[in-house]
Amino acid sequence: MKIVAFNGSPRPEGNIEILLNESLKPLREAGHDILLFKLNNMDFKPCQDCGGCVTTGVCIHDDAMTEIYAAIREADRIILASPIFFYSLSAQTKAMVDRCQAFWCEKYLLKKVIPAGPRGRKGLLLLVGGMKKEECRTTAEATAKGFFRTCSVPEHETLFFGGIDNKGDILKHPTALKEAYEAGKRLGE
Ligand SMILES: Cc1cc2nc3c(=O)[nH]c(=O)nc-3n(C[C@H](O)[C@H](O)[C@H](O)COP(=O)(O)O)c2cc1C
Repeated sequence: MKIVAFNGSPRPEGNIEILLNESLKPLREAGHDILLFKLNNMDFKPCQDCGGCVTTGVCIHDDAMTEIYAAIREADRIILASPIFFYSLSAQTKAMVDRCQAFWCEKYLLKKVIPAGPRGRKGLLLLVGGMKKEECRTTAEATAKGFFRTCSVPEHETLFFGGIDNKGDILKHPTALKEAYEAGKRLGE
C-alpha cells in the first residue's frame, strides 16, 4: 500500500518525529511504500483564497504542494502528525490542510470523490501537547477530521498525548511508543 505521512513539527527529533517514526515502523516492516513529508522544510504558501480551484478542484499555484496533492490522491493510508500549537494544529500542518481546499472543491462542489484502492483509504492522527487539556485535543481533532474527510478518507484513528512538552519527553511516556507502533500496525491491515 501507499502510505503518506506528514510531520507537522518544526522540531527535529522532537516528540512528533519520535512518535511518527514509531508508527511507521510496522508499515516499513510490512514492506509498504512510505512517503514522508516534513512540512517545515517544504516551500509552499498558505491558501490565498483566490478561487482558482473552485470550478476545477485543482490549485492553480505550482509549488511544493503539487507533489503533496499527487501523494494524497494516490494514498491508501494517510498519517497526519502535529504538535498542538495554541490549541490547534501547528501552522505548518494547518497551511497544508488549508491548501486541501482544492480537494474540498473537487469533492463537495464537483461531487468527485478521490477513488479508493482495494483496501480503502484510512487515516491516523498523531497529536502531542505540552498541556493536559482535552480542549487542545478536540480543536485540533476537528480540523484534522475535516482534512481527512475532504481528502476522501472516511475513517481515522486518533492518538493524543498531553503533558509532553520538552524535546524527547514522549520517550518517558509509559505507553506512547507502543500505542503508536500498534496504531501503525492496525493502519497497515
Ligand atoms: C508556538 C507553540 C505553541 C504551543 N501551544 C500549545 C498549546 O496550546 N497546547 C499545548 O498543549 N501545548 C502547546 N505547545 C507545546 C507543544 O505542543 C509541545 O512542546 C510538544 O511536545 C511539541 O512537539 P514536538 O517536540 O514534536 O515539536 C506549544 C508549543 C509551541 C512552540
